[in-house]
Amino acid sequence: MQKLKTTSNNLIVSDKATISIDGESYDFPVYKGIEGDVCIDIKNLRSLSEGVTTIDRGFKNTASCESKITYLDGEKGILRYRGYDVEELAKKASFLEVAYLLIFGELPGKEELDKFHDDIVDNSIVNDDVKKIVDAFPSSAHPMGVLSSLTSALTAFNPNDVSLDYVRSKEGMYETIVKVLGKIPILVGWSYRKQNGFPLQYSMKIRNLDYTDMILHLLFKKPNDEYRPEKPLIDVFNKLLILHADHEQNCSTSTVRIVGSSHAGLFPSISAGISALWGPLHGGANQAVLEMLKAIQEDGGNTKKYIRKAKDKEDPFRLMGFGHRVYKNYDPRAKIIKAAADKFLKSIGVDDPLLQIAKELEENALKDKYFIDRKLFPNVDFYSGVIYRAMGIPPNMYTIMFVLGRLPGWIAQWREMRLMKEPIGRPRQLFTGSAPRKFKSKK
Ligand code: ACO
Repeated sequence: MQKLKTTSNNLIVSDKATISIDGESYDFPVYKGIEGDVCIDIKNLRSLSEGVTTIDRGFKNTASCESKITYLDGEKGILRYRGYDVEELAKKASFLEVAYLLIFGELPGKEELDKFHDDIVDNSIVNDDVKKIVDAFPSSAHPMGVLSSLTSALTAFNPNDVSLDYVRSKEGMYETIVKVLGKIPILVGWSYRKQNGFPLQYSMKIRNLDYTDMILHLLFKKPNDEYRPEKPLIDVFNKLLILHADHEQNCSTSTVRIVGSSHAGLFPSISAGISALWGPLHGGANQAVLEMLKAIQEDGGNTKKYIRKAKDKEDPFRLMGFGHRVYKNYDPRAKIIKAAADKFLKSIGVDDPLLQIAKELEENALKDKYFIDRKLFPNVDFYSGVIYRAMGIPPNMYTIMFVLGRLPGWIAQWREMRLMKEPIGRPRQLFTGSAPRKFKSKK
């Protein structure tokens, strides 16, 4: 049997792939991931055969990096964080434990977790001047746009974030990480409180609360109100945050990595990730799903009509919350969220007709040839909005709730990228524009 070689990066070279261009053949190493994934390294293609590059629109089959954080197999519906099955984590872990696991690679012991929690709380205070920026936004501003701007603005109040040598300063990196995990929930809280006319809270130093419970307080605690969220609410929110915590190289995470690859700081990189998540094809789908379910309800609840619309190529309507770039099987997160939605609504005695419409849409889609042939299943966003609605969160804040969950994943991927000294992200292109021409003014 052939002895496997490794690269200086410890990648296992399992084979070689040959590309022939104009009668010349070139060999490239083939790597094997620990789950058996096979990956051809074409990095040297251009230097071997001048001017030759590869194209893969939307990076449908291109690995942009090597990572040890999250493993997912879209064909089998598997999702693991640092080797732990997401279903088990959602059942047994706290969101902060999962955040620590994703970022630092191992589950924290009690002391490590307590310190992480306290450091986040201590670094959560948001400067009063940031509030002036918030006041300048029109009340109609979408919370995602506001959050992205404020996150970037936080750089001005944390100047180390742009000047720090993150690769050398372990302490500096840790401090920035706890600042992000402390301050962004405060800003998210502001967004909800402003819409509801509650006074703003400037720090997490409310009471000694667990991180998930604390976020609920930052959102819902009214002045002079002894707010104590019920256990089913804390449980379901903890689950949602864990299920959103990372998803390897998706659109927003790739954005965070590519912005950070220019050595921009963590705050601006996260700000870019928030903007990428906002779009309805990505995290913005959770708001779009709720709006779609409401529109179907107002139109008489005829789900079959909307299945027909989704299949009609002349109709721009898409079944939001359905389909996924990598899952060609049921998204494991959607399965857990659907069950959690059922349980949570029952526990608080809510019978939401939108949940029934969602279930009917799913049932009809899953037996329809169009959806079967294209392997389209509900994704993480299909049922999450129903839970947020029952929690009393307005639809324009659903994607911001996704941000809270995804923060540890973005941070973990950004940290890994910096520590591995990844080169600046800079794809190639296939130029199809004008041939050279001489300037002649048209004035
Ligand atoms: N409704 C109807 N048809 C769909 C849907 C949908 N939701 N999703 C995909 N299709 C069809 C496409 O029209 C295409 O059909 P064709 O082969 O006849 O042209 C085929 O399925 C493949 O779809 P693509 O758009 O090429 O797949 P891609 O991987 O590029 O897109 C995406 C994935 C963006 C998630 C897509 O499925 C979609 O738009 N879904 C709705 C939005 C959504 O729920 N996004 C959240 C994703 S999860 C997340 O990001 C957190």
